Amino acid sequence: DWTADNIAEEQIERIRTQVGTGKAICGLSGGVDSAVAAALVQRAIGDQLTCVFVNHGLLREGEAEQVEKDFVASTGAKLYIADERERFLSALDGVTDPETKRKIIGREFIRAFEAAEAAIIAEAASEGEPVKFLVQGTLYPDIVESGGGEGTSNIKSHHNVGGLPEDLQFELVEPLRTLFKDEVRAVGRELGLPEEIVGRQPFPGPGLGIRIIGAVNEERLSILRKADAIARAELTAAGLDEEVWQMPVVLLADVRSVGVQGDHRTYGHPIVLRPVSSEDAMTADWSHLPYDLLSKISNRITNEVDGVNRVVLDVTSKPPGTIEWE
Ligand code: XMP
Repeated sequence: DWTADNIAEEQIERIRTQVGTGKAICGLSGGVDSAVAAALVQRAIGDQLTCVFVNHGLLREGEAEQVEKDFVASTGAKLYIADERERFLSALDGVTDPETKRKIIGREFIRAFEAAEAAIIAEAASEGEPVKFLVQGTLYPDIVESGGGEGTSNIKSHHNVGGLPEDLQFELVEPLRTLFKDEVRAVGRELGLPEEIVGRQPFPGPGLGIRIIGAVNEERLSILRKADAIARAELTAAGLDEEVWQMPVVLLADVRSVGVQGDHRTYGHPIVLRPVSSEDAMTADWSHLPYDLLSKISNRITNEVDGVNRVVLDVTSKPPGTIEWE
């Protein structure tokens, strides 16, 4: 009999059997899967688990805080925070090519995670208990899609926390292996995770780094964060979170156009709204959002975000357009 409660109980029991008194680490991305996997393992083995959050500085407004405060408050998990914002910004300095950006972010992520891992392993060793287990939020569809291996795409080099190198020194703990996304969400709610984490729409591992068309820097990230926060808030207020699969908000950082605000001329950047409806992200249609909502988002972004003087709507399906712009 399938209930979130039963699934959680069963997985917690399995984790206890697998891990025993050993120590485990788990990377948190800010997304649903890693949060639910970590919460399950935390319930099972408590402080034998250390969660690792690499803040790469490419998350949206409020997302780092969701991990650093809300996740910890709702689970009681032990969290190691690696503030690596500088590392990523300098590695991405001046880089505009999408695949190069993805490779750099993936590479730096692994390095940052390994550094955190080393610190945790050293501490555990001083307590006489080696870290033997690595928790991953792999879902059933991830396994099916990739034929048992790690998720990859021929079109774009996907990066996520699940894509860490198969580190032979660890035994994997994968408590979501038999579950689909909606089941993972149900289990997360059962475990008391906040709705902002559990109900989160898909967000790419490389984050805002691939939603700035052009080079990434702090100023551009700040512009995009503000615009994205407005668009998300209005979509939620309109009650359309369920209907829309996701809505990337993209900054065309290398494009400028002339505008007028009050009585002066502006020369600012366009923001693109990319709302899509989809079943599985393999194909998608652009979402026909209500005009009132689009007006509101456009007015708010152009009024409230310095440096943006135009909002445009992406009306391309996938194919031919991918969901993300890079
Ligand atoms: P595309 O742009 O290929 O995106 O149509 C399909 C889905 O995948 C998400 N996406 C990613 N997710 N790491 C991820 O974890 C990535 O590198 C990545 N790139 C794209 C995208 O948001 C959409 O849901």
